[in-house]
Amino acid sequence: MDFLELLYRRESIRNFLDRKVERTKIERCLEASRLSPSACNSQPWRFIIVDEPNLKSEIAKATFSKLVSFNRFAQTAPAFAVIVAENRNLGSKFGGMVKDIPYHLIDIGIAAEHFCLQAVEEGLGTCMLGWFNEKRIKNLLDIPKKERIALVIALGYHDNKEPRKKIRKDLDSIRTYNKY
Ligand SMILES: Cc1cc2nc3c(=O)[nH]c(=O)nc-3n(C[C@H](O)[C@H](O)[C@H](O)COP(=O)(O)O)c2cc1C
Repeated sequence: MDFLELLYRRESIRNFLDRKVERTKIERCLEASRLSPSACNSQPWRFIIVDEPNLKSEIAKATFSKLVSFNRFAQTAPAFAVIVAENRNLGSKFGGMVKDIPYHLIDIGIAAEHFCLQAVEEGLGTCMLGWFNEKRIKNLLDIPKKERIALVIALGYHDNKEPRKKIRKDLDSIRTYNKY
C-alpha cells in the first residue's frame, strides 16, 4: 500500500467484530513497534498483549466508568496492547531532565503509531486509549507499582469499508517555512 494511503486508512476503530486476532498478526504489529526510533535508542517500552477473553474483558472495563463512559466500546475489542513505560537509559533520562522534555513518551507515541499502522496493513483496526484506570490494569497484569502504563491500544477486526473523512487542521494553519 502507498504510505499516504495507509495513513488515510488508519483511523480510530470503535466498533470491533467478535473475531479473534491471530497472534502472527499481532507479532508483526509488535515487530513494527520494535523497529521504532527512540531517544538514545533507549527503547523504553514493554508491550503486554491481552487476548485471553476473561482478562481482556477486565481490561476493557478498566477503560471506562459510569461517569466517564466514552470508552465503553472497548468491550467489543478482542485484544489490547498495554504499553508500559520503562527501562529508560541514562542518556534519555538525563537528556529529558535537562531539556525538560519527556522523550520516553515521545518514543512510546512513535512505537504505538508503528503498531497501529502495521495493524492497518494486517487488515485490523486499532484505537489508542489514553483514558484508563491505571491502578486496576496494573493489578490485573501484575505490573510493578513503580512502572507507569503510558497507553492502551484496542485491537481487532472491523467492517468499516471506507475510512471516515479526517477532521484535521488544514496545512496552512500548521505550517510555516523558515520562521514561526
Ligand atoms: C494519546 C492518545 C490517546 C487517545 N485516547 C483515546 C481514548 O481514551 N478513547 C478514544 O476513544 N480515543 C482516544 N484516542 C483517539 C483519538 O480520539 C483520535 O486519534 C482522534 O480523534 C483522531 O481520529 P482518528 O484516530 O480516527 O484519525 C486517543 C489518541 C491518542 C493519540
